[in-house]
Amino acid sequence: MIELKNVSFGVKDGNAEEQKIILSNVNLTVPDNCITAITGQNGGGKSTLMKLLMGIEKPTGGKIFYNGKDITDMNVTERARMGFSIAFQQPVRFKGITVKKLLSLASGKESDVGTLCNYLSAVGLCAKDYVNREIDSTLSGGELKRIELASAIAKGGDVFLLDEPEAGIDLWSFEELINTFLGLKDKSVIIVTHQKKILDVADNIILVNHNAPPELGEREKMLPKLAENETCGRLKR
Ligand SMILES: Nc1ncnc2c1ncn2[C@@H]1O[C@H](COP(=O)(O)OP(=O)(O)O)[C@@H](O)[C@H]1O
Ligand SMILES: [Mg+2]
Repeated sequence: MIELKNVSFGVKDGNAEEQKIILSNVNLTVPDNCITAITGQNGGGKSTLMKLLMGIEKPTGGKIFYNGKDITDMNVTERARMGFSIAFQQPVRFKGITVKKLLSLASGKESDVGTLCNYLSAVGLCAKDYVNREIDSTLSGGELKRIELASAIAKGGDVFLLDEPEAGIDLWSFEELINTFLGLKDKSVIIVTHQKKILDVADNIILVNHNAPPELGEREKMLPKLAENETCGRLKR
């Protein structure tokens, strides 16, 4: 269980004296063993909320707890050791490193072709086309996102934090991606998404907007709120 207690995050905007508040008064309890989707307006603070969960940004106020332990000051590496597995909205490229090497590093062991194939097919990629490719600019945005997701799966863990894993992914069956998420359901899976099909398999939805603190509720309770919200028109079906 992940708990955010009175979490806020502000940044100094350019030369401005005042802090720009991006998130304030966030109180959320994200349960284990289920899929929680984060959705809402562009610029509402979804990626910022993710970065706070990942440990890439530290809250400017409040505390974050994981299974009762205060992790507010733990960085991304410490959280990874604790069992957090992450995929960014904008994946990082590692020139000179092959897909095989990246997945082996992520899983912590030299993986055989069969295992690599499982990781890659979970994200709709054919292993033989990709294992020896470098993680460089020759990969398309969608391929890079899928390889990053495969590396989060290869790393494994108890908490998966995925920021718009569907972005740039359109040429392969969405069902496959959704099955991959459902396969992680005995973990905590937190996904930023605008996709209605992903929201439909989420147990809980966190709605993040400019004008109110993020709110978490069960899917059936939250879906009507999304429909009322102007975000509705932006959901991809
Ligand atoms: N480091 C930063 N400095 C200044 N503004 C930021 C910073 N990070 C995010 N923002 C702003 O905070 C708001 C929320 O950003 P973000 O969390 O990326 O939104 P979302 O992922 O919901 O689209 C946006 O207005 C964005 O421009
Ligand atoms: Mg974002």
